[in-house]
Amino acid sequence: MRNKIVAGNWKMNKTLSETEALVTRLSAMLPDTDAEVMVAPTYVNLTGAVRQLEGSAIEVIAQNMHFAENGAYTGEISADMLLEIGIETVIIGHSERRAYFGETDEILAKKVAMALNKGLRVMFCFGEELADRKAGNHFNIVESQLKNALFSLKDSAWQHIVLAYEPVWAIGTGETASPEQAQEMHAFIRKTISEANDASISESVSILYGGSVKPNNAEEIFSKPDVDGGLIGGASLNADDFTAIIKAI
Ligand code: G3P
Repeated sequence: MRNKIVAGNWKMNKTLSETEALVTRLSAMLPDTDAEVMVAPTYVNLTGAVRQLEGSAIEVIAQNMHFAENGAYTGEISADMLLEIGIETVIIGHSERRAYFGETDEILAKKVAMALNKGLRVMFCFGEELADRKAGNHFNIVESQLKNALFSLKDSAWQHIVLAYEPVWAIGTGETASPEQAQEMHAFIRKTISEANDASISESVSILYGGSVKPNNAEEIFSKPDVDGGLIGGASLNADDFTAIIKAI
């Protein structure tokens, strides 16, 4: 049985006071659900959110981390720093990290290895650009991203991996992949993992969809058999929208 997950990636949004206010509203509005619910504030607000949500059903996760143990990496954050403030899950490989910060498959493989070695759960993001899809190359791109970052892992590592397929052309655009497109790619991802690793791994790994998920499209996307939830951007910044999406899982 795969875990259902709804995670909110807040990206570079919400000051400390805004974070406190949103966390307060989410805590009060959280619907009953068997899904895991996560929020990813920015680094500076993680400690406060962890303390505010202590004992709640909402997990606070990080948006990123560096691949080094520690050292001369100005502006960066290490796995140990996240662990010590109570973070247990980290997003790695978001398309915005790849696009704006030059994070290559090689760098991401090092980040995944460091996170797993430190005992963090990894929410690994990947997805094709619009040009890839228009060229019919989207399956090759997704397969390559998965293989380059994850396929050297030992089987036992996969229990600490959550996958998030985010077609770049759907992120922040309002242009969502259709439920059929999402299901087609998620099924391909599961097949690819099964062929490269083990069928039991592919059947047990949660695969989230991300890219303009909103209250009015979440239920249909989440209804697909190989979609195990969503990684939500813009809609996670509004308590009403985020809780409506949680109700849809
Ligand atoms: O990580 C989730 C994010 O990339 C999706 O953003 O605003 O399209 O829901 P959005």
